[in-house]
Amino acid sequence: MPNYNIVTLPGDGIGPECLDAAMLVLEAVQKCCDGLTLSFTRHEAGSEHYRKYGVAIPEHVLADCLKADAVLLAAIGLPDVRKPDGTEVQPEMMMGLRRAMGLYAAVRPVKLFPGVRTPLNTADEGIDMVILRENLEGLFASFGGGCILNDSVASDILMITREGTERVVDFAFRLAEKRSGRPSDGKRKVTCVDKANVFRSFAFFRKVFFEVAERYPNIESDAAYVDAMSLYMVTTPSQWDVLVMENQFGDILSDLGAAIVDGLGMAPSAEIGNDHALFQPSHGTAPQLAGKNVANPIATILSSAMMLDWLADRHDDATARAAGNRIEQAVAKFLADGQLRTVDQGGTASTTEIAEAISKVFIAQNLSAATMLSKV
Ligand SMILES: NC(=O)c1ccc[n+]([C@@H]2O[C@H](COP(=O)([O-])OP(=O)(O)OC[C@H]3O[C@@H](n4cnc5c(N)ncnc54)[C@H](O)[C@@H]3O)[C@@H](O)[C@H]2O)c1
Repeated sequence: MPNYNIVTLPGDGIGPECLDAAMLVLEAVQKCCDGLTLSFTRHEAGSEHYRKYGVAIPEHVLADCLKADAVLLAAIGLPDVRKPDGTEVQPEMMMGLRRAMGLYAAVRPVKLFPGVRTPLNTADEGIDMVILRENLEGLFASFGGGCILNDSVASDILMITREGTERVVDFAFRLAEKRSGRPSDGKRKVTCVDKANVFRSFAFFRKVFFEVAERYPNIESDAAYVDAMSLYMVTTPSQWDVLVMENQFGDILSDLGAAIVDGLGMAPSAEIGNDHALFQPSHGTAPQLAGKNVANPIATILSSAMMLDWLADRHDDATARAAGNRIEQAVAKFLADGQLRTVDQGGTASTTEIAEAISKVFIAQNLSAATMLSKV
């Protein structure tokens, strides 16, 4: 029976509340799913830790992250905790984890669940795309470098490599193979999002993209400029399946993606490498909501479902796969049936109430599914 060791990092701001909410659901998973054992090690790290001890991620925490089967992070960063150069502590910790764990693919689903609002009037056919952000290179390769000359010129270098591009594009096509295509007609499609009309680095990214695409003749491939894509995501959101792009473009378009499916509280993510993976909501620490039990926990709950799905792939574990799918189904049923919503989604429910309600749906679902029934 597999026993997965999960490191949890509650972080700062609303992070601990969102993580506690996801843990409520994962406890229900543990009760219901015979053959799935999750052991959790919770560590303090982040901006508050930096404020107290001068270090954001202690070495023993990083070592545990590298040893773990997966890492579940809520959110880190506080705008008032800064390093002497004026930058926040948060990027140092996030980039440190990504580099140490080799997390080259950031998978950011943009999915409109039935019963959830969208600000668009163009989404009748549904929204279900994935933004795949290259997570180690691009403009972020410059993190920790960059230079300022004579207080008059500043620069950061954007770096695209063949190796980095091939692996993330290949990941994109493998992801498209697993999915059921774009909502409008079920066509599987991977789109390269770039700025190849202006920059040689992006023309190279696009060239490598189409080389890799040749290995996947059954999946449609095309390319669009990033400025146009920010328009298409709003005007034709059901036409897109998997969008693969450079780091900074992915950082920006994933927030646009969250906006069209009712906000960051609905935006989970998975950051995946060859040997490690980290799961976290796409949102930050929303300091103005912290400690009030009002944050939307759904992005963190869906991130934990993505974690189980990744463990299932990695260990060929049908139980973990079923558990991950059923968390997403429970969230979908809760959103379709329920009246409860947190403030960001126009309701008054607390973080805990949402998590308890989703756990109840999960348990009820499993009571009627004999294959998953055991310890309830
Ligand atoms: N990966 C991360 O941990 C991560 C990502 C982004 C920002 N940050 C950090 O978070 C801090 C705040 O940054 P920000 O304000 O730009 O971004 P943010 O994501 O914290 O907040 C942006 C907006 O979304 C709302 N929001 C976010 N998550 C929500 C949730 N779960 N429920 C309800 N509303 C939610 C906030 O109230 C705010 O209006 C900064 O210190 C930043 O560095 C961390």
